[in-house]
Amino acid sequence: MLSARVTLDPRQVVGPINRRLFGGFVEHMGRGVYGGIYEPGHPTADEEGFRQDVIELVRELGMTTFRYPGGNFVSGYRWEDTVGPRDERPTRLNLAWHSKETNEFGLHEFASWLGKVDGELMLALNLGTRGPLEALDLLEYTNVPAGTALAEQRIANGLTEPLDVKMWCLGNEMDGPWQLGHRSADDYGKIASQTAKAMRQLDPDIELVACGSSGAGMPTFGEWERTVLSHTYDDVDYISCHAYYEEKDGDLGSFLASAVDMDRFIESVVATADHVKSVRKSDKTISISFDEWNVWYLSRVDNDLSKSLDDWPLNPPLSEEPYTVADGVVVGSMLMSLLRHADRVTSASLAQVVNVIAPIAAEPGGAAWRKSTFHPFAVTSRLASGDALKVALETPEYDTKEHGTVGLVDVAASFDSAAGSASVFLVNRSTDEEARVVVELSELGVTSIGEVLTLADADPYAASTSEDPDRVGLKENGSATLKDGVLELTLPPVSWTAVALA
Ligand code: AHR
Repeated sequence: MLSARVTLDPRQVVGPINRRLFGGFVEHMGRGVYGGIYEPGHPTADEEGFRQDVIELVRELGMTTFRYPGGNFVSGYRWEDTVGPRDERPTRLNLAWHSKETNEFGLHEFASWLGKVDGELMLALNLGTRGPLEALDLLEYTNVPAGTALAEQRIANGLTEPLDVKMWCLGNEMDGPWQLGHRSADDYGKIASQTAKAMRQLDPDIELVACGSSGAGMPTFGEWERTVLSHTYDDVDYISCHAYYEEKDGDLGSFLASAVDMDRFIESVVATADHVKSVRKSDKTISISFDEWNVWYLSRVDNDLSKSLDDWPLNPPLSEEPYTVADGVVVGSMLMSLLRHADRVTSASLAQVVNVIAPIAAEPGGAAWRKSTFHPFAVTSRLASGDALKVALETPEYDTKEHGTVGLVDVAASFDSAAGSASVFLVNRSTDEEARVVVELSELGVTSIGEVLTLADADPYAASTSEDPDRVGLKENGSATLKDGVLELTLPPVSWTAVALA
């Protein structure tokens, strides 16, 4: 059995945990919207056509902020098509995902759905094929209370109160050659700065996200962030990060260490943002909006979507990942990476929510169920509160092909002094050995163990399915003891665990 030691000290604070860390991302892609959150005629559909079985699961996930409507989709988005009487809304081509977009579900519908899941709207702007004028129009439509052409149009369309959208993404993945309107860092930095300045003239209270790289592996990574922030530093609040991981060539060891790569990614972006800060002698600190992150088997994606002019399917199933136990463990450890950078990562969006790269599966006309990745997200969102703590960890290590030598055990923790509670999140990356972990936490003053939940299985590739929706789930871990300020527990191989303490 492996053994690891951890010390937690309430004075060793990373930073407050922003609830926006537990955000999601809903894109008009595949069956994410149509057949996902919206399916009129479904047995559970409410009067607006929203699946209530999905709404219940989204609420259980504890998702906070929802980025919308894309993703790559946003770079061809015309928001005006999506509002007003439904029978007058045009059908368009969704170029990003080679499908048809009827616009039956648009901005008002999404805002109404958010009311039902208690979510905050985070809008992405089209800076691919459009620019500052359309961004201003959308901001006027959503945030001006009344008395202007677009505010009155919103009111006429049924929304008396403004949506008061706070968070805005200035485009999406503009560094990616696949993006409609892809630009150089200089060109993007200039248009992002102009758009941000114009938007703040209209509403000074908004929070703006500049596009960072679409992944740390991009050839322009680092230089992209430096250039974009050189143009936009005074205009924006956040720079975005996006990361997707998958197991490649059966290399489970590297895959389980994905969060190590995520840590390095975050720290590189922080270093680059702080470099621009020091060059500009600025007092302002830029935060990170990690607004796309997940496990995604991109290598399985068929990039050769039919290109024929008469073949634009409606809501084709895309990237409906089955998600195994190992995938769930990696998602849990990515959440731990976000927590230990809570001082700089203050917003994040799991990509996505239903069906497409999602923790929730929804069968057409049938059931909705939780995939393996659902569990660590829901539990972390529920338990992590107060401050994220720095963790002093001694753990055995192993060598990975992709990420070098990394810890076999990983730990993150939160401490809520007001509530008198703490939570500890642990991962065992060993594929064949249990780990006994001793956590010295007497300084926290917690005296009792609440839930101890573990995601693990004899088969790390087990997954829940429509036939067996509870095949993979959390189990109470009976090994935990807390005595004289010392928590001890055993972690199965390839596992993620959450411990609640009071
Ligand atoms: O989430 C799926 C896609 O991944 C998004 O549209 C895009 O931004 C990213 O490449």
